[in-house]
Order: sequence, then C-alpha cells, then structure tokens
Amino acid sequence: MKISIIGGAGYIGLITGLGLAQLGHKVTNIDIAEEKIKTLLNGKSPIYEEHIESVLENCLSSGNINFTTDPSDSISDSDIIIIAVGTPSNKGGDIDLTQIKSAIEQIKSNFKTYKVVVMKSTVPLDAVELMRQEFSKQHQEGKDFDIVSNPEFLREGKAVFDFFNPERIVIGTNSEKAFKLIEEMYRDLIDRKKGLDEISQENKKIPVLKTSLASAQMIKYGSNAFLATRISFINELAELCEYVGADINEVSKGMGLDSRIGESYLQPGPGFGGPCLEKDLNALNALAKNRGLFLKIFKEVLERNNVQIDEIIRKIKKSVSINESLITIWGLSFKAGTDDIRNSSSVRLIENLSTLNAKIKVFDPVATFNSPISKDLEIFEDPYLSVEDSDILVIMTEWPDFLEYDYSRIFQSMRGKNIVDARNILNSSFIKALGFSYSGIGVI
Ligand code: UDX
Repeated sequence: MKISIIGGAGYIGLITGLGLAQLGHKVTNIDIAEEKIKTLLNGKSPIYEEHIESVLENCLSSGNINFTTDPSDSISDSDIIIIAVGTPSNKGGDIDLTQIKSAIEQIKSNFKTYKVVVMKSTVPLDAVELMRQEFSKQHQEGKDFDIVSNPEFLREGKAVFDFFNPERIVIGTNSEKAFKLIEEMYRDLIDRKKGLDEISQENKKIPVLKTSLASAQMIKYGSNAFLATRISFINELAELCEYVGADINEVSKGMGLDSRIGESYLQPGPGFGGPCLEKDLNALNALAKNRGLFLKIFKEVLERNNVQIDEIIRKIKKSVSINESLITIWGLSFKAGTDDIRNSSSVRLIENLSTLNAKIKVFDPVATFNSPISKDLEIFEDPYLSVEDSDILVIMTEWPDFLEYDYSRIFQSMRGKNIVDARNILNSSFIKALGFSYSGIGVI
C-alpha cells in the first residue's frame, strides 16, 4: 500500500512510518522540520530510541521509506494518509489544533483519489469533526474519503518494540471499507508474517478492536489517564507507608500479584513526566469543563503528581540546607531509555532548587539541556566528576547504568554522604552499609 505520514519526523510519525515500511508498504514521511528530514535521509535518527537505527537502515535500503518536506506528490498518490502531528496543550488544557489544521490543508490541496485519513495524534472528537467539515466542502464522505481513528500506545524508549508487539490495534470508524483497508495495512503484523526478527514476539496474538471514532479516542485518553492514576495512587500510598513503617516496594509487589491489579505502573517515583500523561489528563479536564461537567478524579491525579516534587524536596531538606549545599542530580530524562526531557520531574526539581539558590550538578548518560537553564547549574559527562564535593546525590531517573557505578568511590569523593533515591533503584542495605544516609520513596 502507498501511505503518507504527516508529521513524519516526529516521535510517533517516525516510528509508525518505519514500522509500516518494515512491513513492506511504500511509505513517505512528510515533515516541515528540514534538518530532521536531512538527518533521516542520511540514515541517522534525530531521536534516541532502542532499535531505531537498524529499522531505519533496513527501510532506506529496501527503498520502502522516503522522507520529504514536500507533501504534494505523495499525498495525492497515497491510499492512506496518517496524521501524526504534535498536539500541544493550550493554557486551559485543551488541545492546540494548529498543526492538525495545517495537516488538513495539506490533504485538501492534494486530494485526487479515494483516501482513508487516519488520525494517529491524540485529539478529542472536535478535531475529527473539523476535518470532516473541511473535506466535505468539496468531497463526499464514504465515496471520496473516510476517517479513521487509530490511536498509538507507543512508550518512548520501547516504541519500536511496541510497534511490532502491540497489545491491541484499535480501529475507530463508521466505514466498513475504511476498517478493512486499515486492518489490511496491519495484516502481516497481525498474522505475524512480518516484523522485526530481533524483537517480534511471534506467539503473541494481536487483538483488533473495531470501534466508533469517539470510542477509539476515549480508549487512548482513558488508557493514559488510568496509567497516570495508578502512578499517583502508588505515590500517595508510598507517602503513607513511611508514616506507618511499611515498605512500598513490598506493598507494591504484594498488590501487583493480585491478577485483578497486575504489577505494572505501580513503581513509586518522582511523579509521572513526559509529553503525554499530563497533557491527556488536562485534555480530559478541559473536555469535561467545556461540557459543563465537574469531574474529580483526573484533577486529583494531576494534583498528586504536582506535589510529588515537594516530597523529594522535603527529603533533600531533611539531610542538607539547600541554599548552602552542592546538590548532584542523576537523571534528566523523564524516564530511562530516552533522551526526552519534556515535562521531566528532574527538570521540575532543578527549577525548584534553582529558585531556592541551590548549586546544582547534573549527570545523565544520554539526555542533556539544549540551552542552560540556570547559571548555578553545571552539566557533567562523567558520573564520578558530577559527585565530587557534593553534599547530596539525588537519583531522578531509573537508568540501569546507575547500578553499575562504584559507590565506595562515590562515598570517598562526596563531601556529604547523603543519597535520595527517588526511583528506589539502589540496594538500600548495601548503600547504608557503605556509610551513606539513604532515603528512598515510601521506605524507611
Ligand atoms: C505513555 C503511554 O505509556 C503510552 O502508551 C502512550 O502512547 C504515550 O504515553 P510515555 O510517555 O513514553 O508513554 O511514558 P510511560 O512509560 O508511560 O511513563 C510515563 C511516566 O510515568 C514516566 O515519567 C515514568 O517514569 C513514570 N512511571 C511509569 C512511574 O513513575 N511509575 C511507573 O510505575 C510507571
């Protein structure tokens, strides 16, 4: 099949385009970001993501993928157009549709044959309605075009794996013809005929769910809001555990063994970050507000997440006086496995500490700041240099690399012997035995 992806150099567009090209489709990824398009044409990925370089190499050498800034030829030739542009939040939490509108315009000006337009970006139904109205000015739905919502559930850092091993494929549409075409697009993945050898879990079945457009979008919003709820829940329980002498790691394990609960998204930490969970909760709140509803849970989940940073600061203050201390922070990305620092708890902590006049040293194995955010901040490429003379080490991202380091050496070079482990990744008994004062989340 011939497929065009608008927003093809962005996170979701790029992984989706490469995945579909690896399945054998002829894919054109269109994007206005010229530099990224050039980088991709040179065989390099603009994002840090496991397995991406090898899929990119496969697809460029098979000729199944092309990258361009020019939408005209590929859109008019394609059977399927996938919209994967960014959907940032406005101040009120509702979605800014600027990029969606520009995608709609690009499709409108290159409309020739019947097309299925697939909304991959996470947007409320209003955006789909807008698209329908615009296309319907000159074309007829069902005859010239159909619209499908096919949400993505890709986790950053595991996105290539998730593309080839989806837990479900949701196809939301009121058109049987469009449903069949999109199911066909995924056919070789569903039947496990094609994939990426090193990561495809061949025995795993992939359910396909046909829904209405609105349901497909709510499946996406509901999933992210539910994951966020679990995280806020476990963080709240962790706080209580400290006061009753329980260990949240044991509690979380014991709860997760109940198959009705399950073990994932019960890891306490510095609060959820990244470009999606908070944005999607805000979008749900805005949707409810615009319809005159007063919903409670989504707001509380966000509120709990906002105070989680105060928890980390409280722990730091228990060991040192912030404005007189040198604080080392390990981990800048919003989670391990990615260089993405959007909405990262670590960045939030750094901003908070900067206002309290702390001197900060930062180390992350992969992520960095594009521009300096404070004069009192120093970035290090070596973990050992980053802790020299520090009063306290705060671990904010769960990079496995942090488990490999020599903590006796770190103990020797630090001025204060304090560790706040905001991800509960270190072996606390071992760290305490070295002489450190150790503080985790929800553990005593
Ligand atoms: C999320 C969804 O998981 C994915 O399906 C969707 O398509 C995009 O949004 P992502 O933003 O990559 O993916 O992050 P995710 O892995 O879900 O983690 C979000 C945040 O929650 C991270 O900051 C992570 O560290 C934190 N987290 C996650 C916890 O604090 N505890 C957990 O148990 C799990």
